[in-house]
Amino acid sequence: MERTHSEDYKAETKIAKLSLKAQNNIIDNLFDFIKKLSIKEETEWGNYYDKTNYNDAAFQGKKTLIEDWVTALNPQRLIDIGGNDGTFARTVVTKVPHVIVTDIDSNAVGYNYKQIQQNKETNMLAFVCDVLQPAPGIGLNNSERSSLVERLKGYSPDVTMALALIHHITLSGNVPFDRSAQFFAAFSKHLILEFPTREDSWVSSLLVRKREFMNHFDFYNQEAFEAGYKQYFDIQKKETVPGTKRVLYLLKNKG
Ligand SMILES: C[S@@+](CC[C@H](N)C(=O)[O-])C[C@H]1O[C@@H](n2cnc3c(N)ncnc32)[C@H](O)[C@@H]1O
Repeated sequence: MERTHSEDYKAETKIAKLSLKAQNNIIDNLFDFIKKLSIKEETEWGNYYDKTNYNDAAFQGKKTLIEDWVTALNPQRLIDIGGNDGTFARTVVTKVPHVIVTDIDSNAVGYNYKQIQQNKETNMLAFVCDVLQPAPGIGLNNSERSSLVERLKGYSPDVTMALALIHHITLSGNVPFDRSAQFFAAFSKHLILEFPTREDSWVSSLLVRKREFMNHFDFYNQEAFEAGYKQYFDIQKKETVPGTKRVLYLLKNKG
């Protein structure tokens, strides 16, 4: 088409006549078709809550800690990064006027979206985001659409949650602690971060996959984590999730 019309400098287009009713029919048909589409692909974290490495009591213990800590902060806006299908954000959704849940896994986000629709949770928004590659600014001068980080600064969440995400950022993403701390500090007032220790089975398996480079990741420990995060945050609370090898931190931005 492009080749055939490349010399068409007059750009005289034949206008096809289509009634408003016919146009509306096309839109309706398109909408019905899209509505029935479903994704038929497996993703790594789509069914995460069927394969967690902690038992029901630990799961409940983590929920309770989060509910208590979040409620005490009385936030107006909260974002859960790496929040999978919103399971933990949902523990506080009735207490926080606006909640965002993002995750890299489109199936988990899709499932969350459906739950939001079913539960009529008008104060919850779910979207896909790879925290290692957050959407950049685009358009002329990169200023037509702001970057995700700029938007999050504007959103200014009172609480950011990053639960069992730090090992992915640090070990899969090769990001030093002070750099991830700097990222969270750019938009977070309070940060609730769950740190799986080296003894946690998911962490062990990520470390084993480093093979001969495993020693380069000896820094993945609580001491180094705290040193990195203390550059940007004060540690307000720190508690082991009962029955797990994971530590929950409540951090307050120093800025
Ligand atoms: C161990 S699960 C924890 C899920 C949830 N936060 C919780 O505590 O139950 C890790 C989550 O991080 C997500 N994740 C992994 N890498 C990510 C990335 N680069 N950006 C955003 N999310 C990521 C996974 O899809 C998964 O949902």
